[in-house]
Amino acid sequence: MYTQALDIPDPGREASLKAVPPPTDATQVAHQARFDARIDADGKIEPQDWMPEAYRKTLVRQISQHAHSEIIGMQPEGNWISRAPSLKRKAILLAKVQDEGGHGLYLYSAGETLGTSRDQMLDALHTGKAKYSSIFNYPTLTWADVGVIGWLVDGAAIMNQVPICRCSYGPYARAMIRICKEESFHQRQGFESLMAQMTGTPAQRAMVQDAVNRWWWPVLAMFGPPDADSPNSAQGMRWGIKRISNDDLRQKFVDATVPQARILGVTLPDPDLHWNEARQQHDYGAIDWDEFWATVNGNGPCNSERLATRVKAHNDGQWVRDAALAHARKQKQRTLKEAA
Ligand SMILES: [Fe+2]
Ligand SMILES: [Fe+2]
Repeated sequence: MYTQALDIPDPGREASLKAVPPPTDATQVAHQARFDARIDADGKIEPQDWMPEAYRKTLVRQISQHAHSEIIGMQPEGNWISRAPSLKRKAILLAKVQDEGGHGLYLYSAGETLGTSRDQMLDALHTGKAKYSSIFNYPTLTWADVGVIGWLVDGAAIMNQVPICRCSYGPYARAMIRICKEESFHQRQGFESLMAQMTGTPAQRAMVQDAVNRWWWPVLAMFGPPDADSPNSAQGMRWGIKRISNDDLRQKFVDATVPQARILGVTLPDPDLHWNEARQQHDYGAIDWDEFWATVNGNGPCNSERLATRVKAHNDGQWVRDAALAHARKQKQRTLKEAA
């Protein structure tokens, strides 16, 4: 998932990001010129290349927020694996949730190429310092929520993530290519599950509509604050990290989703949503940004539950990490002994 624009400002670090110091000596000036030329030519920056400190910090923040979102995002749907209504739905859901875990792992690996360890990134998540996508702090109350997450949340993720396949940082761009292919499966399985429910009983159709009503607005907020309130966006665009603005992505998502809702037979819960002939786009109502910021800052419906579950899973897995390290040590000793 799920850059809401996976780069939520962190007030503590803003000062260092905004103050990009000018290069001081001739070597630095040369490095900066080479970096700028590569970006201007739409080339890739690789881990061994020189890069400005602010570029590195921005990427670590964005990639780690993205990784955390994938990992925390396993929880709302994981709740339903044991309650899926058929073996087929259970197998699909298991595969999807495992994909999300895999996305997290690729992204932590991409983050590590920037010189920040996985332990550091996880520690920031577990202590509540790091952000993750606001959307995963909402509860999954019914089976229809699982379908709606696939259709809308993964659908929004694709909108957000396809442009990141062209990100200027090589390891992030390459990780996103595989991730986007899997997100496409996630979106389609969600839509197909909802289609099945919409051909069911009136109670099933009502359950789908209720889930759409609860998820629609938080999904629109996932794209991040309006462009006017996104001070880092311009720099992200200059560096080739961000390619399309939050508002433009949100608009693309609304325009793509309205016809899909019509096919499903659900109503999107926005009385102001209608086609604007002049703009050739949909107009839509006002998003509750207070709710968004409250959720991002830890006060959403499930924030503390999500974090507590994550920390417990990490602690419960300590013996696996210890065993893997002990095994690696033993193998190394054996190799050294054989070589002697
Ligand atoms: Fe994902
Ligand atoms: Fe996904």
